[in-house]
Amino acid sequence: MTTQAGPNRYALFGHPVSHSWSPFIHGMFARQFDHVLDYKLKDVQPGEFRREVIDFFVDGGGGANVTLPHKPAAAEIVNELSARAERARAVNTIVRRSATELYGDNTDGVGLVTDMVRNLSVTINGARLLILGAGGAVRGVLAPLLEQEPREVRLANRTPDRAARLRDEFSDLGEISSSSFDEVEDRPWDVIVNATAASLAGEVPALPPRAVGRETVCYDMAYGRGDTAFMRWATGRGSTRAYKGWGMLVEQAAESYLLWRGVRPETKTVLDALERM
Ligand code: ATR
Repeated sequence: MTTQAGPNRYALFGHPVSHSWSPFIHGMFARQFDHVLDYKLKDVQPGEFRREVIDFFVDGGGGANVTLPHKPAAAEIVNELSARAERARAVNTIVRRSATELYGDNTDGVGLVTDMVRNLSVTINGARLLILGAGGAVRGVLAPLLEQEPREVRLANRTPDRAARLRDEFSDLGEISSSSFDEVEDRPWDVIVNATAASLAGEVPALPPRAVGRETVCYDMAYGRGDTAFMRWATGRGSTRAYKGWGMLVEQAAESYLLWRGVRPETKTVLDALERM
């Protein structure tokens, strides 16, 4: 699809959103191109989401990001979905085609894969990949991860039934199995991605102790200042490659920017700035 520069008003819809880094990130992107960008945070209740989004675009909004808990609702209100957003059944980027015609995409998965493959030199192709969690965060990234053709993907979740349902839904795209945490093979995986909400509570999924080895890449989709509980846990078990999701955040934002403005910002300086904080 083609994207014109369009109006300069953008927004992030979520609940809560006050701690979001997106205005900072998109502000840095805009400066790279001398674009004028007004990027606002919109904290809206689920019951108000649809009306707020429609009003925003009728009023001339140029594009929007969507975060928790509204991503599935956003997939319901746009006029057209990208294939990956349709798979994820969730939208994190809305592009304005006209005041009444909205296009929905999901850049989370490509953001994660770009951060892992390009920024961190992680090889997903041919790897044994363990994904922790079976919620919306996993659904959003599963297709782009499977596109990398890992040798094997295991979905492990506190509630194994949820992992099994997700496995069935995506099994046409690759070799996926599912289990509880304690049924995970007790030998080092190549890559472990933590997509549970456990980190937010400072908790770590109860994996067998030898699932992590020295070379195991441990990627926490959560982020914030300092190391996450999952990173500390991985490092404590000997991993020399524990990362958090700053890069995913920046790369998904760069993909949104590309959809809105037709240019992809350079991400390294933004990531460096976030890591210095
Ligand atoms: P999201 O959109 O962030 O994925 P979600 O759909 O509510 O949110 O899913 C949250 C995920 O984190 C689920 O996989 C959940 O496990 P359950 O399916 O068993 O509920 C997982 N999760 C949340 N808190 C957790 C904890 N303390 N330990 C392990 N897993 C946890």
